[in-house]
Amino acid sequence: MEQRDQWATKIGLILAMAGNAIGLGNFWRFPYQAAKYGGGAFMIPYFVALFLLGIPVMWIEWVEGRYGGKYGHGTLGPTFYLMARESVKPRTAVIFGMIGGMLAFSVTSLLNGYYLHIVGWSAAYTYFSAAGSYMNTTSTYDFFVNYIKNTPQVLLFWAISVGLLGIAVAQGVSKGIERWVKVMMPLLYVAAILLVIRSFTLGSPVKPEWSSIKGFEYLWEPRFSDVTWESALAAAGQIFFTLSLGMGIIQNYASYLGPEDDVALSGLATVSLNEFAEVILGGSIAIPIAFAYLGEEGIKSGVSLAYLALPNVFIHMPAGRFFGSLWFLLLWFAGFTSAIAMYNYLTALLEEDLKIDRKVGSAIVFALYFIIGLPIALDKTLLLLTDLDKWVGSYLLVVLGLFDIIVGVWLFKPKNFWEELHKGSYIKLPEWIMVIIKYIAPLYILILLGKNTWDYITNGTITMSQKYLEYLVSDEALISTTTEYAKKMVIESRILII
Ligand code: PHE
Ligand code: NA
Repeated sequence: MEQRDQWATKIGLILAMAGNAIGLGNFWRFPYQAAKYGGGAFMIPYFVALFLLGIPVMWIEWVEGRYGGKYGHGTLGPTFYLMARESVKPRTAVIFGMIGGMLAFSVTSLLNGYYLHIVGWSAAYTYFSAAGSYMNTTSTYDFFVNYIKNTPQVLLFWAISVGLLGIAVAQGVSKGIERWVKVMMPLLYVAAILLVIRSFTLGSPVKPEWSSIKGFEYLWEPRFSDVTWESALAAAGQIFFTLSLGMGIIQNYASYLGPEDDVALSGLATVSLNEFAEVILGGSIAIPIAFAYLGEEGIKSGVSLAYLALPNVFIHMPAGRFFGSLWFLLLWFAGFTSAIAMYNYLTALLEEDLKIDRKVGSAIVFALYFIIGLPIALDKTLLLLTDLDKWVGSYLLVVLGLFDIIVGVWLFKPKNFWEELHKGSYIKLPEWIMVIIKYIAPLYILILLGKNTWDYITNGTITMSQKYLEYLVSDEALISTTTEYAKKMVIESRILII
C-alpha cells in the first residue's frame, strides 16, 4: 500500500487544526449568538459546555482520527467500525460505522453547502470594502439585498473561493492544505489584532452612553438570572460548532498523524487557540464596534450583524474602507481555512473508500457543493440557510458528538481509550477526567437533545426561522425595538421577506 500522507511539521499540524476550528463561527456566529442570548447570560452555559463537552469530545475525536489513520482511513464510517469491533460483533460494528459515516457525510456536505456561501459573501465584501462600493449607500440593508439578488455575482465570488479550495485540496494534505494555512493563519491573527486595537480606540462616536467598552461589558457581565434553556442549548451548539466537533473533520485531520504523535496536548492546544480567537478576539471586534455606533439594539441584528450592521459602521468610521476590507478579509481567511477541512473530508472519502484519484475527487466535490449550493443561492429569503444553520449547525453536530462518546469511549472500551489518549502524549491527564468523559458529557448531551426534541415536537413542525419571520412581520417586533436603526432593519426585513 502506498504511504499515506502525513503532516510535514508540528507547527503545520497545529496551524491546520487551529485553522480548522477558527472560522466564521468565531467572528460571525459567536458574536450574534452571544448578543441574541443576552451577552453575559450566554457566557455562563458557554463555559460550562466548554469544559463538560468541548474539551472531552475534542480528545475523543483526536483519538478516533489517529486510530482510523493507522488503518489508512480518515473518514468516520471505517473508523467507527474499527473501534466498535472491540466490543461488538463485526456485523453490529458495521451498523455503527454506517451511522457515523452517514452523519459525517451529511454534515460535511450540507453544513459546508451553506457555509461556503458565507465564505463567498466575505470574498465579495472584501472587494466591496476595498473598492468603496457601499460607502455612499443610504442603506447597507438595500446594498446587501441587491447583492444577494444578483445571482451571477453571488456565484462568481462563491466560485472563486470554492475553486481555490479545490486547488489547495487537490495538492494534498502536506503539500496543499498545510502550506496554505501556514500563510493564512498568521495573517488572520494580525488582521484580528489590528481590528481589536481599532475597536478599543473608538471612544463614543455617536452617544456618550454608547462605547466599545460598554459593548465589551455587555458580553462579560455575568447575569445568572437570565440563563435559560434556550441559551444553554445555543451555547452547547456554539461550542460544538466553533470547535469543529461532531463533523468528522477533527478526526480527518488527526488521521494524518503518525501512530505515536501526541494527541492529548495537541487537542488542548486546538481548543485554547480557538477559544482565544473566539472570546478574546471575536468578542472584542464585532460586538464592541457595533455597540459603539449602534447601541444594544444594533448588536442584536442577528445573522446579519457582520454583513449589515458593521458595514454601516465602516461608512462612518475614520479609515473605514481599510478596516472594512480588513474585517472581511479576516472572515474570508477564517472561513476558508475551516471549509477546506470539510472539502478534504469528502475528497478523502472518494480517495480512500472509492479509490478515486485526489485531483479528480476534488473536482467531483466542487460539483457536489455546486449542486447543494445552488438552491441556497437562489433562495433570496435566506430561509434555507438559516434553517440549515439551525438543524445541521447545532442539532446534528450534537447527535454525532453523542455517537463519538458511544463508539470512541464505550464500545472501544474506556481502558483502551485512556491508553490511546496517552500514547505518545506530552502530558499525563488526571484520572477524574474520565468521569466527565464517560458519564457527565453523554448525560449532558442527552438532556439537551431531549429538551430540544421535546420543544420541537410540542411546537409542531414550525421551524425556527418561520417563527422568526412571523415575529418580524408582527408589530411586537417594531414596538420592542427602540433605536431608529433597528426599526429600519425590521421594516426592511419585511420587504425582503415579501
Ligand atoms: N469551527 C468552524 C467555525 O468556527 C466550523 C466549521 C468548520 C464550519 C468547517 C464549516 C466548515 O467556523
Ligand atoms: Na471556531
